[in-house]
Amino acid sequence: MKFFIDTADTAEIRDLASTGLLDGVTTNPSLVAKTGRKFLDVVREICDIVDGPVSAEVTATDHETMLAEGRKLAAIAPNIAVKVPLTPDGLKTCRVLANEGRMVNVTLCFSAGQAILAAKAGAAFISPFVGRLDDISSDGMNLIDDICQIYSQYDKFTTEVLVASIRHPIHLIESAKMGAHVATMPPSVLRQLYKHPLTDSGLAAFLADWEKTGQSILDA
Ligand code: E4P
Repeated sequence: MKFFIDTADTAEIRDLASTGLLDGVTTNPSLVAKTGRKFLDVVREICDIVDGPVSAEVTATDHETMLAEGRKLAAIAPNIAVKVPLTPDGLKTCRVLANEGRMVNVTLCFSAGQAILAAKAGAAFISPFVGRLDDISSDGMNLIDDICQIYSQYDKFTTEVLVASIRHPIHLIESAKMGAHVATMPPSVLRQLYKHPLTDSGLAAFLADWEKTGQSILDA
């Protein structure tokens, strides 16, 4: 499973990229707005930090303007995945950009039917939002299960399932069990994955016992 980080905060991205665990980055207009910085500057900086796919979202809603924005974003770096919303104009734009050899991430997916459309439109990634479905008392993980099952029936569907709107490690673990290709998560969720109280207490006990030996590996 690939790990993407869902943020436009370049300090966070730099820090998490240094772990060697990061395969890509997703941004959206709300995350960019939070930085208070210019969109294209942020995207350029992220592409300098990360080699894997960096999703940058168009903000137009009509096909022609989306296409122009998508081409402009794609020209920033070869690892840009142009993000388009799951609308008729968004999917039309996806088809054209995919035919031009660009990676497209179709975002705001909330149903299996929408995911089928995105695959047919040549999307490199489909982004189903699990947390936002949970928020309205619909089980987001059922959607991931459905999409993974459907995509696996067709060799010609090369679209990767990019689980988005992840709120906690269980979302990620369940997605991995279902075989989702990618998870994009806030930095806090990635950091939570390391945590277990038995790891902390076990390490403390090992170190306390080691201290008693008076030895040092580097001095041996
Ligand atoms: C994905 O690409 C989106 O940016 C993101 O996962 C949305 O998450 P949210 O529902 O926590 O805003």
